[in-house]
Amino acid sequence: MPGTRTESNTSSSHRTASRADTAALDEIIDQLKEDHRRVKKAFREFEKMDQQDESACEALVQRTISELEIHAELEEDLFYPAIRSALSDEGLIDEAEVEHMTFHVLIDQLKKMEPSDDRYSATFTVLGEYIKHHVKEEEGEIFTGIGRARMNWRSLRDDMQQLRQQRMSEHGLAPADAAEGEGQNPSSSDAPH
Ligand SMILES: [Fe+2]
Ligand SMILES: [Fe+2]
Repeated sequence: MPGTRTESNTSSSHRTASRADTAALDEIIDQLKEDHRRVKKAFREFEKMDQQDESACEALVQRTISELEIHAELEEDLFYPAIRSALSDEGLIDEAEVEHMTFHVLIDQLKKMEPSDDRYSATFTVLGEYIKHHVKEEEGEIFTGIGRARMNWRSLRDDMQQLRQQRMSEHGLAPADAAEGEGQNPSSSDAPH
């Protein structure tokens, strides 16, 4: 039958598209988790830093703030709206959005402060604690709750990559692989090279 072959091809292309979308969703999640790891590492580094070295502290705080703002925008404008319908409990996204609002409040406060301000270090530390809690819930409940929802994940991945690159360039941030190279010697962060 002439129709049999067509049907088979259609079915096959559906499977391919589905696998490609699953791979795209994996890429999205991997990239977001990589952001989480990098930011959590920055907060740990801050704890060990000499607080008297204000310029070093400020450089780390500013870079972390930029990374957080980009990550938050990607989630708020693209990722969360896309996955909301894929989750059985949409309240998780509401909760995550409210938590993001608290991050923005603390980030705005930090931007208005000088590193010499008594609360500069405390504000950044509290931000780190909130982020740690948020990341735990995001990875443990939201990322795992998406399951195998059928969606155009490739399109979302491409949109997120495009916005990420645009924002990184605006913030003057190096690509993630270069940033990772910088942080490969956590035990010798005070060494000049
Ligand atoms: Fe996140
Ligand atoms: Fe988030």
